[in-house]
Amino acid sequence: MPLAGREPDFQSRRTVHRIESEFVFALCNPGSEKALKLEVETMALGWRLSYQRRGFVTFKSDAPFTLDSLAVDLALARRCCLSLGKSSTRAEAVERVGAAPTVHHARFHERKLQGVPGTRRPKTGERVGTVVELGPDEFWSGLHRHTPRLSPDPAGDSGIEMPADSPSRAWLKLEEAIRFFDLEFRPGEIAVEVGCAPGGVVLALLRRGVSVVGVDPAKMAEVVLASAIDNRQQAPKDRPWFFHSRKPAALASKRDLGHGVSWFLSDMNQSPEVVLKECARFCRMCPDIRGVLITLKLTDLMQIADKPGWFAALAAMGFTTVRLQQLAVHHKELALLATR
Ligand SMILES: C[S@@+](CC[C@H](N)C(=O)[O-])C[C@H]1O[C@@H](n2cnc3c(N)ncnc32)[C@H](O)[C@@H]1O
Repeated sequence: MPLAGREPDFQSRRTVHRIESEFVFALCNPGSEKALKLEVETMALGWRLSYQRRGFVTFKSDAPFTLDSLAVDLALARRCCLSLGKSSTRAEAVERVGAAPTVHHARFHERKLQGVPGTRRPKTGERVGTVVELGPDEFWSGLHRHTPRLSPDPAGDSGIEMPADSPSRAWLKLEEAIRFFDLEFRPGEIAVEVGCAPGGVVLALLRRGVSVVGVDPAKMAEVVLASAIDNRQQAPKDRPWFFHSRKPAALASKRDLGHGVSWFLSDMNQSPEVVLKECARFCRMCPDIRGVLITLKLTDLMQIADKPGWFAALAAMGFTTVRLQQLAVHHKELALLATR
């Protein structure tokens, strides 16, 4: 059961009861539980596994948890909550959450840990309750505080639907990452994407008004070729365009990229080491790159143990903020974000 203490409420500047609990729970993609436990172990947080279901893992530790204990970046947890305990009915679980201004609902359904859409975006600092339905008579209640780097959606699952004309699911992965991290791709910006075929990401960027240099030896879909230009040096200024550098990333040159590239994206099915090496080379060729968004393709989620090395590689490129996150739409993949 949660224990009461006192804490400042940053929204209202009042002092309210501070919540402590012996447990935290994490919501993750089904199949990611073992890797999440490894990630927690390698971060030496002192959290010990307590209880586990598909997509749901609880941890305990020697000292009680508070909302501040949740300020850890766990790539494999889409949501981390202070656990307020288990109930056998939804009504009881909602009651446990108390007076949180927003209550998120999540459920294990169709072999996925899904967020139930329909809640407003929480404000920064606001407490958010979560009720998770794991079975007909198993409901868990939790609490977290919203911060800008956390998904605003229940269970970190936006429920965004892909348009029928998208040539690949990569559209969904990009839009989910934008929503999760609250990213801003500004109209008029230029992004480079390595591993761009057949073009789901390119389509999403073009529709956001962003022009794209795409690097990939494979063929692009017609829907993005409609915006294609033949000559990077004569790119139009009045509309978003797509330039296809039809070669492997290692052969792309400064001439292909031109001036003004401000985002590096990668969706290549190559190892994290190869992608990060290319990322460093592209950042040297394009000094205006302000953000990096990579879909890391893993052969095994236990590669999460290599996270410190990936972060160090991005820090060596001059990136000051780095986030790693498995999104609801990912399988053996992670979104790696770095900004200056
Ligand atoms: C998952 S698909 C990319 C999907 C794409 N981002 C989209 O939005 O539709 C992976 C792509 O990586 C490309 N790829 C693999 N190795 C590459 C390399 N060394 N350089 C460039 N592209 C590469 C493949 O040709 C393939 O088209």
